[in-house]
Parts: sequence; C-alpha cells; structure tokens
Amino acid sequence: MARDLSIVVNGIRFENPFLPGSGPPGTNARVIAKSYDLGWGGMVCKTFSMDASKVVNTSPRYAKLRGRESNEVIGFENIELISDRPFEHWLDDCRQLKKNYPGKVLVASIMEEYTKERWQEITRLVQETGVDAFELNLSCPHGLPERKMGMAMGEDPSIVEEVTRWVREVSRIPVWAKMTPNVGHPTEPAAAALRGGADGLSLINTILSVVGIDLKTLRPQPTVEGHAVPGGYSGPAVRPIALRQVMEVARANPGVTISGMGGVETGYDAAQFIALGASTVQVCTGAMLRGYELITELCEGLDKVLTDHGMANVRELVGKSLPYFTTHADLVARQAAAKAAAKLGSGRDATTWNGAIATETAALTNE
Ligand SMILES: Cc1cc2nc3c(=O)[nH]c(=O)nc-3n(C[C@H](O)[C@H](O)[C@H](O)COP(=O)(O)O)c2cc1C
Repeated sequence: MARDLSIVVNGIRFENPFLPGSGPPGTNARVIAKSYDLGWGGMVCKTFSMDASKVVNTSPRYAKLRGRESNEVIGFENIELISDRPFEHWLDDCRQLKKNYPGKVLVASIMEEYTKERWQEITRLVQETGVDAFELNLSCPHGLPERKMGMAMGEDPSIVEEVTRWVREVSRIPVWAKMTPNVGHPTEPAAAALRGGADGLSLINTILSVVGIDLKTLRPQPTVEGHAVPGGYSGPAVRPIALRQVMEVARANPGVTISGMGGVETGYDAAQFIALGASTVQVCTGAMLRGYELITELCEGLDKVLTDHGMANVRELVGKSLPYFTTHADLVARQAAAKAAAKLGSGRDATTWNGAIATETAALTNE
C-alpha cells in the first residue's frame, strides 16, 4: 500500500478501517480468525445475548433482489435473528481470539432484554474476556422487536439513552450504539445514545422491507411454510440511504466517532462513508456474497483514493465531503451567483463570488 491505512478510533488502533459487520461473517471464533488472517483490521461479531434458548431461526431466512438483466444481487433481505450459540461458547471464543490475535480488534455485539440488570451483567461478563469495544444492537428490525428488543429499543430515543447509560456505567471499554435506519430522523436516537454516554455510533442496521412476492404462489419472500414477515434489507441498494444517514448524524454531531456501513463492496464505496464522517467501515452482505478475500480490494481501493488526493492517511479523508452539504435555498443562491458572476465576465475570483452569494442569499431570505 502506498498509504498508511491504520487509524486510531476511541483510543483503539485498527490496522485498516475495515471490519466485517455483525452477522454471518462473525458467527464463531473459527471464521473470525479466518477474517483476521486475511487482513481485516477488526471484526464485529454476530450479536449474542445471555440466553440463546429463546433464539429460534427459520429456514429459509434470506431472499435476494437481482438486477433485471444482470444476475447481480442488488439487495438482500434477511429475517435472521441474533446468534443461537450458547453464551458460554461466545465467552470462550472472545477469550481465545484475544489470546491468539492480540493486535486485532474484536468488537462484541451484544443485545439484551430491557432491564438494567441484564444489560449490566452481559457487559461485565463480556468485558472480562478482553474484547476491545462493545457494539449495542439497538436496531435489529425483525423478530426481536416482538420481544421488545433490537429496533423496539432503537426507535425510542429515551430507551436508547437509558440502555446506553446502563452499559456506560459498567463498561471500561468504548461503547458504540448501533442505530436503526427505520426512523424519520436518525439524528434523534443518535443524539440520545451520545447523551447516554456512547463513545461512537454504528449505522446503519438493515431497512425494514418486503423483498418481493412470488407471482406464481402470491406468497411473500422469504417464505416459511407459505408465510412471511418483513425483513431487514441490505446490500448495494441501501448504500445511498446509509450514506445519507451517516451524513446527517455526522453533521449534527461534529467529530463524533462513526462506524459506517450499508452496501459497501469496494474501497471506493468505503471511501464515501469515510468522506461523510465514518472512521471505520463495516461490511456484512458484501463479505457474505463475495467472501472475506474482499479485504484486499477494499484496501486497494481506499489506498488509491487517498493517493489520488495526496492524503497521507485515512484520518485526513474523514468528513471531507461534509462541508459541501447545504440547504436548497443556498444551492439556488449559489447557482444565481454563478450566473451573475459569469454575466459580469469577472471570472470566479473569491470576492465577486462571495459577494454575489451574499446578495442572492439576502434576496432569498427577504422573500
Ligand atoms: C444475514 C444478516 C444477519 C445480520 N445479523 C446482524 C446481527 O446479528 N447484529 C447486527 O447488529 N446486525 C446484523 N446485520 C446487519 C448488518 O450488520 C449491517 O448493519 C447491514 O446488513 C447493512 O450492511 P451491509 O449492506 O454491508 O450488509 C445482519 C445482516 C445480515 C444480511
């Protein structure tokens, strides 16, 4: 690599900003070790709770949306729950991974029922294994909300604040709150998590969706015994929505730590999340569909973007595109100013330009 892809986030050094996102890529220690061996900077493990006996998955639980002409997967829907592996197995896995890979980052994704005791107990037990950070799953959109978990918490800012505070009270390591995109204003639960003491925010989790109806049977997909529930949508189709949510949260909270995700498949996709304020980037569906080997392409693409812009490291790219978001009125003023400046034939020197924008903005504001 021509550039240094390492980055320090909440005091943790990542050798590169890429982590497989919580989901099938982080199912157990064996596959997590494989991702580390292939060069991922860290891993967010599959979400687990203290009582796996309540987690019952269905089959099938995935469905794909493909391009009309190409066979490419555009969008991916899942109705998968959190991990159904026993809690003790997860504690062993975390201990073993931190022993064998001390230089790699392990983020434990946890979820619990809505009681202070349970959230604080899982936090205490998991942090003893030596994991580097927590990601609080306050955002799984399917299945768990029926038990008042996941998105049922994440869509209510007061619960987000409360749960984050419970964890913050006992956690000695950084805490990221993973946010749901299934809200009108993502900045509201994000602000609540920060009030509760979150050190960072992860976004987005999946988008509630119905991926399609089989027109032969009129059954929605994925179909379990002829029936279905809305599931969580991910993959390339969600990227523009994820970028927008990351941008809004970053603009509302300058300097906040963001782990961005949603439809990332290349280093160029990832660079866009970083330019909008993310300092790490997670890849879940991309790693499922293309394999952990994707990490080489991710690093090469990001390295190329940094090189093209003469940037020495990833930190220099963080948030670089944020100043270019503005209001519609300002766009109109800028456009009018550009036309006025062109008419004057005065070129685009800064004084004329700023003067023209100020005049146009004043005119718009007075309307
Ligand atoms: C099959 C599947 C299972 C997932 N399981 C979890 C989970 O256990 N916990 C969690 O926080 N997010 C989970 N997610 C959401 C992803 O971590 C990620 O937020 C989302 O899919 C968007 O990123 P992507 O387009 O790179 O997949 C899952 C996603 C998929 C596709």
